[in-house]
Amino acid sequence: MLEKNKKIFLKTYGCQMNVYDSDIMLDQLKKKGYEATSSDAEADLIVLNTCHIREKAAEKVYSELGKYRSLKKKNPSLKIGVAGCVAQAEGNEIIKRQPLVDFVVGPQSYHSISTILERLDDEEKVVNIEFATQEKFSKLKVNGGEKIKPSQFLTVQEGCDKFCAFCVVPYTRGVEVSRSVNEILDDAKNLVKYGAVEITLLGQNVNAYCGLDNNLKERDLSYLINKMSEIANLKRIRFVTSHPADMTEDLIQTFGSNPKLMPYLHLPIQSGSDAILKKMNRRHKVSDYMEVISKLRDVRSDIALSGDFIVGFPEETDEDFKKTIEICHLVRYASAFSFKYSPRPGTPAFERKDLPDSTKTERLSALQAVIKDYQQKFQKNLVGEKLPILAEKSGRAEGQIVGKSPYLQPVFFSGSMELIGKIIDVQIIASEANSLSGVVQQN
Ligand code: SAH
Ligand code: SF4
Ligand code: F3S
Repeated sequence: MLEKNKKIFLKTYGCQMNVYDSDIMLDQLKKKGYEATSSDAEADLIVLNTCHIREKAAEKVYSELGKYRSLKKKNPSLKIGVAGCVAQAEGNEIIKRQPLVDFVVGPQSYHSISTILERLDDEEKVVNIEFATQEKFSKLKVNGGEKIKPSQFLTVQEGCDKFCAFCVVPYTRGVEVSRSVNEILDDAKNLVKYGAVEITLLGQNVNAYCGLDNNLKERDLSYLINKMSEIANLKRIRFVTSHPADMTEDLIQTFGSNPKLMPYLHLPIQSGSDAILKKMNRRHKVSDYMEVISKLRDVRSDIALSGDFIVGFPEETDEDFKKTIEICHLVRYASAFSFKYSPRPGTPAFERKDLPDSTKTERLSALQAVIKDYQQKFQKNLVGEKLPILAEKSGRAEGQIVGKSPYLQPVFFSGSMELIGKIIDVQIIASEANSLSGVVQQN
């Protein structure tokens, strides 16, 4: 039996899906009497929820694990677990490489984490990396009844069937699985009941969402968004991350027709060159992407666009790279993420010849300068505007509140803490590197 009041130190890497999953694990463990701690030194259980997307992300895990050697010496009953995408990708190998690790649990097996801990009473090591997606979702984040933060994430879809040549996600997260409409609506209502005002629908390929309704009819993401917007106290809906090939006409139109769907879309293109997109197995051309962008702007002219780019993919020439820069000029992103290509074992591109790191570094900094420039332009354009801001939490300074603009920028302003959870009009007065500041407008 597990004793009461043991402490868990849980560290999360990678994407929002991992953040969401960490909450699931904490929920499971709280039921078993664990409480969270922010100090690894006082933990009885350490879990790293890991990311495998780039080499650096995966290597971080091993350097972190190494640090726990002395803790384990001091407290031999300390249990150490590796969860997440490195767990799924490397399984048993993790324990071989770092014997400090007691258990390995893949992203589809978090519902079994308490059983794993019980098994460790008798077994030396436990590895569970089975795929059983549906089971893990039966969680109730708000069953304690305490108030939750105004902005919440809700997983609606997991896994990916796209198999981009560089990407580990289809292997670590498995095939696309969508939750049912009703299950999601129940979760959403529950989140709203306890204080959520904004919900971001999560999925590795969220716009491929295809869940069953009560009549076992398949429904798409636009249907789900429209259903969710019927929840009166839910004011804002977002979704992330989308693939250009799954931007259906209906979904595009929803940006124009549903005022609760926020004017922001993260739509990665990865490269501005058709030749590279083909080598990446992206299943869309630059012209397809631009058509989606233009339709989006037709229905929602102020929409903020964001994206992901990979530079230095195998065989990317200077000409190819120039086309990536051109895309930035055409789209004028409000923000974007960019990465040096990192060869990942098990993916088709892994076998291809890697470009020199110096080429990647050069291209990355050139791209980031352009992206940053457009981000500043986008933000500066908002100065002088009155925007509806969701007040999310108190800031570091006394009396300061941090909110979120419809376009996803953090907005700092002064006000009473009673404003938290409300959407208020704020006059934007300045743009900083990654945020805005403003003053509350009295009505
Ligand atoms: N499901 C999302 C996110 C995938 S991972 C999507 O399809 O957009 C987030 C980003 O990491 C990707 O968009 C891509 O830009 C980047 N990425 C994925 N694999 C990579 C690799 N091997 N090297 C460098 N960047 C990578
Ligand atoms: Fe990875 Fe491509 Fe799937 Fe995105 S769409 S998760 S980049 S395989
Ligand atoms: Fe990383 Fe897995 Fe997310 S590889 S980006 S944690 S899906």
